[in-house]
Amino acid sequence: MIVDKSFKIAEVDPRIYGSFVEHLGRAVYGGIYESSHPASDSNGFRKDVKQLIQELNVPIIRYPGGNFVSGYNWEDGVGPLNDRPKRLDLAWRTVEPNEVGTNEFTRWAREIGSDVMMAVNLGTRGVDAARNLLEYCNHPGGSYWSDLRKRHGYELPHGIKTWCLGNEMDGPWQIGQKTPQEYGRLAYETAKAMRLVDPSIELVSCGSSSTGMPSFPEWEAITLDHTYEVADFVSLHQYYGNRDNDTANFLARSMDMEHFIRTVSATCDYVKAKKRSKKTMYLSFDEWNVWYHSNEADTKIDPWTVGPPQLEDVYNFEDALLVGSMLITMLRHADRVKMACLAQLVNVIAPIMTENGGRAWKQTIFYPYLHASRYGRGVSLLPIVDSPKYDAQDYTDVPYLDSAVVYREDVEEITIFAVNRHLEEALELECDIRGFENYRVVEHIVLENEELKAVNTADEEKVKPHSGGGAECRDGFVHARLSKASWNVIRLKKA
Ligand code: AHR
Repeated sequence: MIVDKSFKIAEVDPRIYGSFVEHLGRAVYGGIYESSHPASDSNGFRKDVKQLIQELNVPIIRYPGGNFVSGYNWEDGVGPLNDRPKRLDLAWRTVEPNEVGTNEFTRWAREIGSDVMMAVNLGTRGVDAARNLLEYCNHPGGSYWSDLRKRHGYELPHGIKTWCLGNEMDGPWQIGQKTPQEYGRLAYETAKAMRLVDPSIELVSCGSSSTGMPSFPEWEAITLDHTYEVADFVSLHQYYGNRDNDTANFLARSMDMEHFIRTVSATCDYVKAKKRSKKTMYLSFDEWNVWYHSNEADTKIDPWTVGPPQLEDVYNFEDALLVGSMLITMLRHADRVKMACLAQLVNVIAPIMTENGGRAWKQTIFYPYLHASRYGRGVSLLPIVDSPKYDAQDYTDVPYLDSAVVYREDVEEITIFAVNRHLEEALELECDIRGFENYRVVEHIVLENEELKAVNTADEEKVKPHSGGGAECRDGFVHARLSKASWNVIRLKKA
């Protein structure tokens, strides 16, 4: 591998380390919020969960959905608690008690140091509900909705900058699914009205729900034809699974993510050219993760309860490797992917799990996410890699070595993130760090495990990183042994 200071991709936008909390399963009720829990604060939010989220240093959190938002009346979730209605949530067939809404969530996010990425309902609702919510959240006062916010106890505006124009509007599962023409028109008109309320906001136009959608990438081409000049981002969503237990193929799935990013970028640039626009559209990968372990269990959950255990994937070691590769992929596209949300944050396909009334713990995927968020801020450098390759079921020429490099000039630190996809053999890494003189290895963190299916539970953390990787710097080269099937974080600093 060659790493050179001048091979700059772009400054990493820290918002690629965002996450997502939806009113779904135990993400809110029993996750971040549980007023009867002994570790809850005076507002009913769990302090133990807060602490774990703060460790991850999550810059932005998408809310309140997800599929949920397409049937949500935001007005149900504000004002005196006793007056809030219980509603049927048709997206997940649960009962939404509305104990937590816009104000509680926004206050909680501020307390943990995260911004909110707010989604508006373009499924059952439209321009009017969206502009009213924005006025309620961001207008200083002297108007109906902003004064209502004040009466609800929030004198100062929330100042929410980032707004999603609906969620997965291409999906037949979405309440109020739209054709691309319908969505494009509605999103454009909603964006226009929202910008009249608050011109300082940034907007995310809905992209495809996955690369597997039959309308991908025509959806992007048609919808962006309407929204190109009013939106700042287009969204991408993607989940992977290892349903047929073919790990070599599963670990290559990040190549599909790469293809997704490249195709959406190309489609954006096509619309840009067609419109003779000077603006570059950025990508918000605002749902991504592994999701499949809980699919079967979810079919057995009774409908119409509050906070059932939905989408509770228990992640194993190999899932952490793919999550690592997905982070690496986004770092290598730091010039286009400017926001991203690991979906989700607590209990629902999440790095953090909780027991109702009990403990909270870290899933396996917590660690690559933590390391990238902690050490992956700076300038993303393009590593030139010459790696042995393999062929898998769905992919050819899969490099065993998957890597990204981030450089922080201010503190003279380089971090190499590397996954060894080889399931049987270690890789000997030789990395020429030319131009970086007098650098030494300060830490080589490794996440490895003999069992690809090892999981973490409240009782036992089988998958956790150690710092004994043994990488070293000699004569301008980093030498490291990357264990079979491993996630590596090699941290270098100028001596
Ligand atoms: O994150 C879970 C669900 O996945 C979201 O509600 C939806 O947007 C996607 O299909």
